[in-house]
Amino acid sequence: MKVFVAGGTGVVGTRAVPALVAAGHDVTVVSRSDVKDQAVAAMGGRPTRVDLFDAAAVKDAVAGHGVVVNLATHIPRFRDATRKKAWQVNDRLRTVAARNLGAAAAAAGAERFVQESITFPYVDNGNRWIDEETARDHSWATSSSVEAEQAASEFGATAGTAVVLRFAQFYAADSEHVHAMMSFARKGISVMAGPRAAYQPWVHADDAGTAVAAALRAPTGVYNVVDDEPLPREEIRSIMARGAGRNRLRPVPGPLLRTMGGRAAALLLRSQRVTNRRFRDATGWAPRFPSLREGWPTVTAP
Ligand SMILES: NC(=O)c1ccc[n+]([C@@H]2O[C@H](COP(=O)([O-])OP(=O)(O)OC[C@H]3O[C@@H](n4cnc5c(N)ncnc54)[C@H](OP(=O)(O)O)[C@@H]3O)[C@@H](O)[C@H]2O)c1
Repeated sequence: MKVFVAGGTGVVGTRAVPALVAAGHDVTVVSRSDVKDQAVAAMGGRPTRVDLFDAAAVKDAVAGHGVVVNLATHIPRFRDATRKKAWQVNDRLRTVAARNLGAAAAAAGAERFVQESITFPYVDNGNRWIDEETARDHSWATSSSVEAEQAASEFGATAGTAVVLRFAQFYAADSEHVHAMMSFARKGISVMAGPRAAYQPWVHADDAGTAVAAALRAPTGVYNVVDDEPLPREEIRSIMARGAGRNRLRPVPGPLLRTMGGRAAALLLRSQRVTNRRFRDATGWAPRFPSLREGWPTVTAP
């Protein structure tokens, strides 16, 4: 199958593209520099240059592909994440670019469109499990994901199979956010605020990558891509303390986080025990790292 991937050069994309190539697909990847062209070729993909905000150019680039995958994001660096302005490019990618890619996929006669989304907006559900039908309550930092999902449902209504992957918080050794968290942790601080018993969903970027390849087997639908066992903050903080060589970490106080980031940051205090059952049942995908207990030591090893 000829697969077109936007966002294939990032933390998740560099796992997803090799997984797609290994599954036998012929993969075209959007690249924005000579260095990334080489990285794409090294993964077994074919680099292409296209402005994702230019609808006509995207239509030309996507022509001839049977599957379109949109993983393009621009999550601000950790220290900028509470500034609204820092999210502008990300919002445009989740609105304008997602729409352009969905429309181009339909025009190309593609049979499938896969769109990345997020689990962060789910409401606080205490210790009860959260599935794809659970209510969502957005902040300004997450509301553009509604339009990204809408681009997929428009494709699904008129053109072919539309798969939305709602990813939990990614972690990987090459993630800037993990580096920032580790640097706070070495000072004895956990940026994982929130009550001790509040659950938080994560997924290793390697597992997010295999999930993208598995999404080519999924029927139309919205799917949570999270590890098997979301852990309560208390356990997450102690896993991160061990990774940083500390006995314990002091969490950033919730009220301080709210002052810094308002509603957007308040969303990070919720308890979200998200299940991956629907995606596992639909595709047979299973994460290599069932929880942060197994995964976190692999990304913080010296
Ligand atoms: N779950 C989450 O959503 C979440 C939450 C918090 C933090 N994070 C952090 O964010 C990163 C997530 O990994 P990721 O793979 O989603 O992000 P990433 O590593 O930043 O990759 C983003 C991808 O989108 C592409 N892209 C960005 N702006 C573009 C534009 N204007 N036009 C075309 N393509 C564009 C990038 O291309 P280039 O390679 O050319 O830049 C890259 O391929 C990790 O560091 C993670 O820790 C994620």
